[in-house]
Amino acid sequence: MVPIHMAKSLPVSAQKSGPLLGKLRVPSDKSISHRALILGISCVGETLVSNLLEAEDIMATADAMRAMGGHVEKVDDGKWSITGVGTGGLEQPEKPLDFGNSGTGVRLCLGLVASHNMTVEFSGDSSLSKRPMGRVLKPLADIGAVVNNDRDCLPLTLTGARDPLPIEYTLPVASAQVKSAILLAGLNTPGIMTVIEPEPTRDHTERMLSYFGAELNITLEAGERRIELTGQPELRPGILSVPADPSSAAFPLVAALIIPGSDIVLTDVMLNPTRTGLITTLKEMGARITIVDEREEGGEIIGDLRVEASDLTGVQVPSSRAPSMIDEYPVLCVAAAFASGETHMAGLGELRVKESDRLAAMAAGLKACGVEHEEGEDSLIVCGKDSIPGGGTIKTHMDHRIAMAFLIMGLRSDNPITIDDGAMIATSFPGFIEEMTALGATFTMRAE
Ligand code: S3P
Repeated sequence: MVPIHMAKSLPVSAQKSGPLLGKLRVPSDKSISHRALILGISCVGETLVSNLLEAEDIMATADAMRAMGGHVEKVDDGKWSITGVGTGGLEQPEKPLDFGNSGTGVRLCLGLVASHNMTVEFSGDSSLSKRPMGRVLKPLADIGAVVNNDRDCLPLTLTGARDPLPIEYTLPVASAQVKSAILLAGLNTPGIMTVIEPEPTRDHTERMLSYFGAELNITLEAGERRIELTGQPELRPGILSVPADPSSAAFPLVAALIIPGSDIVLTDVMLNPTRTGLITTLKEMGARITIVDEREEGGEIIGDLRVEASDLTGVQVPSSRAPSMIDEYPVLCVAAAFASGETHMAGLGELRVKESDRLAAMAAGLKACGVEHEEGEDSLIVCGKDSIPGGGTIKTHMDHRIAMAFLIMGLRSDNPITIDDGAMIATSFPGFIEEMTALGATFTMRAE
């Protein structure tokens, strides 16, 4: 099958739409789905996963797990079966591992491979090949892995350590991917692998490692999180269910807030506090979001969200909130564009190294749609208005979240907004157009 993003580009336009009404379960969480596959292969025996995200990023990780000896397949009842090789049991892949557009897939797998004495080639698409890998390669080199590349980008070849060393590493950037890469390297390293996080980031790796039986000691002191993993655990396979992705829920959520008369319910949304910064911010802006039926499933907090159209007011978003809403700034800009007053966002440096330079892409898109804003090195101010001209064509730079954010803006702007390519939406939110249309959104598509 040709991955959709290798096909021709797929421009999509969004136009002013009536109220959004109804119920939607957005696709499952991308972060948890990657980890389910990677930790599944690290167990001996079969792990069964229901509601795995079946999107391109995750399928690339599934292929990588197969290439290293795991057995990964969808079974009759829609669950995914992963039969692992156990800690330390990875097999040498015969071909380069291609992670497509996925930064999470490649960085986590670099960590997993780093403590196995084998040589693996890693590659990705043109967007992923521009993203910095040095942030994981540096600690992995301290563990003993060798990279035969003088740039810190893909494609690269990594030779894992024969005698991996446990390290104590303080994260220089707030990144769950870097934290997770080190912890995954720790799985096949004797001794205690320690990661210190000055700013806590999403903790799915730690939760899932504990669920599979690893010994973790986590302490919080003066705001810093210290995570110690005891190496070479025997991970026990288990049964997992992946909740809906709050980063995908963010798009219909903001759409319902800004389109008058909307009233929707988003079901099964994961509400892990390391991921709910957007909900906190939107509530501060006056959003009517009600959490219904909050429950715990598989170690994660889950709830249904009722979202009603709301009059929003601009706020100051503190930089300390960035890790818990790092993927949500593009769609927050859309909410801010329709709020009264200014929204100030600080601490956005990491947005420059996502699937695109998201800060620059948002600023350019806001300009094309007639939204006043001010872009700083690591900050953005958006000046909201009740009506926005729209009418622009947005360069998405192969970035699914830029694509979805501007389509949402087009549902309320005076003139339709067109994105140059909607194909990358399939990396995280397959069915976005169809699901949003079922709620009442209007899009037109044209293959080029
Ligand atoms: C992710 C961590 C975040 C996030 C990405 C998914 C993860 O990246 O932006 O979409 O699953 O660990 P960083 O860790 O680089 O901030």
